[in-house]
Amino acid sequence: MNETTAPQERKPIIFSAIQPTGIMTLGNYLGAIKNWADLQDQYDCIYSVANLHAITVRQDPAKLKKATLEIYALVMACGIDPQKSLFFVQSHVPAHAELAWVLNCHTQFGELNRMTQFKDKSARYADNINAGLFTYPCLMAADILLYQADLVPVGADQKQHLEITRDIAGRFNGLYGETFRLPEPYIPKTGARIMSLQDPTKKMSKSDANPKAFISLLDPPETILKKFRSAVTDSEAQVAYREGKDGINNLMGIYSVVTGKSYEAIEEEFQGKGYGEFKTAVGEAVAEHLRPIRERYAQLMNDKAYLESCCREGAQRASYLAGKTLSKVYKRVGFLPLEKR
Ligand code: TYM
Repeated sequence: MNETTAPQERKPIIFSAIQPTGIMTLGNYLGAIKNWADLQDQYDCIYSVANLHAITVRQDPAKLKKATLEIYALVMACGIDPQKSLFFVQSHVPAHAELAWVLNCHTQFGELNRMTQFKDKSARYADNINAGLFTYPCLMAADILLYQADLVPVGADQKQHLEITRDIAGRFNGLYGETFRLPEPYIPKTGARIMSLQDPTKKMSKSDANPKAFISLLDPPETILKKFRSAVTDSEAQVAYREGKDGINNLMGIYSVVTGKSYEAIEEEFQGKGYGEFKTAVGEAVAEHLRPIRERYAQLMNDKAYLESCCREGAQRASYLAGKTLSKVYKRVGFLPLEKR
């Protein structure tokens, strides 16, 4: 990050973000946020609440504002420690929007047009296919490249956005000289794609119209149990990880991450037992795993002054780091600087 620092002296940098578009799901948590917490001791971690991304879909302003602080608190409740990691709200650091503009001008229409998330979202929100939805990956690339991140912990659905980030960065470096570090995705083996509990061929999403399809991190234990008990499975009545058993595979993946048990151990544990027993065990394990998160979240939401001070400090530190990359970029592309007096 610092031009005078030799690459071997610097700790690898992690960057990732989450949109404040509702309460985080078990999918967000197991696919990404749990890893954010686990990586904090080994790396220089930078995490953000991506509220600029959120308005690519129409938002109610009052709800967006509230959800931004809620998700900030919830990420902290999941173990992100602002003393260890830099954690900020995206709109507090204007460099994100500024670099995104420059990257927009270095990204081809055809590349963006291939993004599956754009295709999915423009089908789902057909009455609002705005330019921001289309250039969303350029803003995401700006987020990552501003901090010269080495690794980006995300779920499998973000892999294509990481690939385009590398393409944009490589192209920019080729045109203007080394400016950006090319980041690698960090996708967990288990939990990378948590599926809907009602249709296990679709990813679990907080925007699903059926609330039984997803577990919200703040669902009370009884709701969690109920949702798992009504999860769609198959008619085989055998707890085994196999192709074609999407529902059971999904539940086994969830159970494996929250208990640390291997698939073989899970198959053994439930040999000869029915799905009812298995679903209840998964529900109970998840409810128990989420208990401390719910409790910590409630405490944090009672201390808005502390949350705000964390946001403020995060924004200051992030602005400083982001500003360094942005001024390098501005120089590279030939923007007239104001000479220091
Ligand atoms: P978002 O807010 O949709 O999701 C946040 C994280 O959760 C992961 N995730 C899942 N993982 C497993 N199973 C699921 N069902 C599931 N659903 C979501 C996502 O992969 C993500 O890691 N564009 C990003 C936010 C973003 C970002 C960035 C991420 C903005 N700038 C820069 C990384 C780097 C998004 O919409 O994530």
